[in-house]
Amino acid sequence: MKSEKIVMAVFTGTGNTLLMAKALAEELRNGGKDVSVAPVERGNVPLPEGAALGLAVPVACFSTYPSAWRFIDSLPDGGGREAFFIATMGGAGGGMEGPIRRVLELKGYKPLGALLVKMPGNYGNKIINTEENSKREKDGREAVKQFARRLSDGSANWSYGKPILSKFTARLAHGRKPWNFFYGMFPIAVDPERCAGCGLCQKLCPEQNIRMDGGKSAIGERCESCQRCVAFCPSGAISVPGKPSVQYRAVGIESMLSFLGIH
Ligand SMILES: Cc1cc2nc3c(=O)[nH]c(=O)nc-3n(C[C@H](O)[C@H](O)[C@H](O)COP(=O)(O)O)c2cc1C
Repeated sequence: MKSEKIVMAVFTGTGNTLLMAKALAEELRNGGKDVSVAPVERGNVPLPEGAALGLAVPVACFSTYPSAWRFIDSLPDGGGREAFFIATMGGAGGGMEGPIRRVLELKGYKPLGALLVKMPGNYGNKIINTEENSKREKDGREAVKQFARRLSDGSANWSYGKPILSKFTARLAHGRKPWNFFYGMFPIAVDPERCAGCGLCQKLCPEQNIRMDGGKSAIGERCESCQRCVAFCPSGAISVPGKPSVQYRAVGIESMLSFLGIH
C-alpha cells in the first residue's frame, strides 16, 4: 500500500466489525500509517486527497446491510485511490466481497485486498461461550495482523466472489425483501416492562427506525435486524421473542457511543 493516510469506514451492529476494524487500524499504525476510523452512517466520512479507503462491514444475508450498501453506493469517484476491505461473519460469506470489489472498481478505486474474519455469533445465542469466543477473537486478531502485512507488501487478494451467487445476494440485499423476510420471521420487540425509556436505542439505530412512544421505545418498519439495539440496550429490554437468547456485544457501550460520536 502506497498511501500514507488511511480512512477506515465501518459499519457495525453488535461490535464484532468495530473490534476487528480497530485491530486492523492499530496494525497499520504500527506499520507507520496515519489511520482514522469513522462510522458509515453518520454523515460524510471525510476522504482526504491521496488517502486510502478501508471498508469494514458485517456479512448479513450473504451480503451486507442496506446501511452499509448505501454508503458504498454513494462513495465518490475513486480516481485511483487505494481501497481494502474486511468483513466479519458467522462463517459463511458467500463471496460477498466480490460485488463490493466490482462497485469500487467501477468507481475508479484500486482494490488492494479483502479479508473475511469469523467472529463470535451475534444472534440467538443460548449461552455466551466465553472460551470459544475468546479463541475466535484471538484468531481474528491474528488474521488481521497477517492481512495488514499483506496489504503492506502488496500480496493481499480480493476475490470477485462466487459466480452468480454473490451478484444475486448483493442485488437482493439492496432491496427491502431479505430484511422484511428476516424481520417477519424474527421480529425484534421491546419489552415495555423492562424498557426504561432512556432512548439510547433510538440514538443507536442506523436506520433511525426507533421512536419513543409514550416514554417507551417502539420499532418501526425499516428494521435491518443488525441487532445493535438488542446488543446495547442497558436494561436488556429488546429481544427477538420466540428466540430466547443472551445479550451479546463485542465492545462496551462507551466504546460504541464514542465510535458513533454520540454523547
Ligand atoms: C441479520 C443477520 C444476518 C447475518 N447473516 C450472515 C451471513 O449471511 N453469513 C454469515 O457468515 N454470518 C451472518 N451473520 C453473522 C454476522 O455476520 C456476524 O455476527 C458479524 O460478525 C456481526 O458483526 P457486527 O457485530 O459488527 O454487527 C448475520 C447476522 C445477522 C444479525
